[in-house]
Amino acid sequence: MPRHLPALLDQIHTEAQALFGQGRVADYIPALGEVPPRQFGMAVALCNGETHAVGDAHTPFSLQSITKLFTFVLALKLVGDELWQRVGREPSGAAFNSIVQLETENGIPRNPFINAGALVITDILTTRYAHLDYALLGALRRLADDPELHWNARIAKSERDTAHRNMAMAYFMKSHGNFHNPPELVLDNYCRQCATEMSCSQLAQATMFLANKGRDQSLRGEPDEQFLSADDTRRVNALLLTCGAYDAAGDFAYRIGLPVKTGVGGGIVAIVPGVGTVAVWAPELDAKGNSVLGAFALERLVQLTGWGHN
Ligand code: DON
Repeated sequence: MPRHLPALLDQIHTEAQALFGQGRVADYIPALGEVPPRQFGMAVALCNGETHAVGDAHTPFSLQSITKLFTFVLALKLVGDELWQRVGREPSGAAFNSIVQLETENGIPRNPFINAGALVITDILTTRYAHLDYALLGALRRLADDPELHWNARIAKSERDTAHRNMAMAYFMKSHGNFHNPPELVLDNYCRQCATEMSCSQLAQATMFLANKGRDQSLRGEPDEQFLSADDTRRVNALLLTCGAYDAAGDFAYRIGLPVKTGVGGGIVAIVPGVGTVAVWAPELDAKGNSVLGAFALERLVQLTGWGHN
């Protein structure tokens, strides 16, 4: 364990600020375009119980695609390997919202993290839960240890009003029999899911089970829970490494080398199995929809700590 983690985080915070202005806040979801760009937060939660935070680490932000990690885990718990009949587990090499592969691949998305794959996962969960939005919120509240956790209704509506491409993908998959519920209903659930808000410190806490062989430790004195089996945890981390940053997954693996999930709200969460989790947030994105300062901060952290390089 680096003895000077707080000092390292301060150093990374200072270095990262030099990159303000290099990316652009996502505005294809209109309400996300209103987020002030020059913000940066980073939080580390360690398996030994220590937590460290710097900058805007306690400011809630829109999780967006980071929620796909949680819905995928819930679906895996519910339906197990059957899930792989409806979604693949290969990197797509294409943009997160690309539609082209669906046509030549019989409406089966490449992986659960691109939009098409995440929509199938939300479809699976919509079949299982009468009120998926609240079921998901319940699971996230437990994982993040925050009974107040919520989705931002304004951002959900803003995405829902402009979700034409995701709707097109849902209908296309339905034409192939790979969508079981009405696309409108699944899109309602998906947009609320994506609009869930957490701070970096909450996100680091909520993903700790992935660093801990599937075990979730509550901060609120509730009993520990084997949230996911150790085998499935290893599998989820493998998918995060290969597919978590879409068509930048290779670049992220090269630079950072950890399982990650990114979101267009500017968040990134990284898992260091056996060590802890790191959540970083800075809204300015690169051309592939990943946080510029976030990727930089994670790259510096692994350089300075040696995490993931053992
Ligand atoms: O479906 C969408 O386009 C958004 N709700 C989420 C996309 C996203 O976060 C991609 N990640 N970088």
